[in-house]
Amino acid sequence: MPDGLLLGLDVDPKALALSRETLAPYEGRTHLVQASYTTITKQLASLHWNEVDGIMLDLGASSMQFDNASRGFSFMQDGPLDMRFGPQAFQSAEDIVNTFDEKDLADLIFRYGEDRDSRKIARAIVISRPLRTTCELAAVIEKASPRRGSRVHPATQTFQALRIVVNEELASVESVLPQAVTCLRPGGRLAVISFHSLEDRIVKDFFREQSKDLFNPPYEGIYEKERKAVVKIINKKPIVASDEEIKDNPRARSAKLRIVEKL
Ligand SMILES: C[S@@+](CC[C@H](N)C(=O)[O-])C[C@H]1O[C@@H](n2cnc3c(N)ncnc32)[C@H](O)[C@@H]1O
Repeated sequence: MPDGLLLGLDVDPKALALSRETLAPYEGRTHLVQASYTTITKQLASLHWNEVDGIMLDLGASSMQFDNASRGFSFMQDGPLDMRFGPQAFQSAEDIVNTFDEKDLADLIFRYGEDRDSRKIARAIVISRPLRTTCELAAVIEKASPRRGSRVHPATQTFQALRIVVNEELASVESVLPQAVTCLRPGGRLAVISFHSLEDRIVKDFFREQSKDLFNPPYEGIYEKERKAVVKIINKKPIVASDEEIKDNPRARSAKLRIVEKL
């Protein structure tokens, strides 16, 4: 769109700096703001943009964050147990690992990492505290929950769980989706890429619920419409990466793209 305008939100100042460079040729038509996407309504209001044509949410962490050991997302390279997407996060993974009690740690590893060995892992963490680095934590998890023969490192799910809690990822998705639908003009589209099943479930359920007419409870067999559907689902099945794309970019293998159109 030659005269299109773009608002870009990210909590990570490094991601914004890079976007500023990439989008330099479009300066004047782009507004890049260091803020959570949960503030989208406020950000659009401050630009006096009442409605937008499209919203793209690319959820989770970036490769740049994963690959920089100092950010603390990776157990393949040692780094501080940080895992914050941006400075607004009020606690780091180190705070959680070293201060949560054993039951809370087990619950978060089970709920957000979907790891059946959550109790064993939580016990081992508590015994080994204080833990300061990603490799220290990964070694404790590997000892508590060895998975010989598995291609997935035993720390993968605990690291996912910590990241989700540090960055309040699920609550943020739940907050942004209704705002995004409200901000769209009729015919505008919302596209969401998620990278794990917990996120994808929230997106799928929200889209399904918003795409249905809601009824009052039946009265003498007659349903009265209470609210019309707000969106139309564009792709019933999520769009996933092709084998070729996965070969090029293995991280794309868990990406799921869902799209709705505002009615
Ligand atoms: C998958 S990456 C996006 C990658 C980007 N589309 C690209 O192609 O380089 C997700 C980004 O969302 C950011 N992020 C995560 N939670 C956020 C939130 N609540 N508000 C704003 N940005 C957030 C992360 O800092 C990260 O840079």
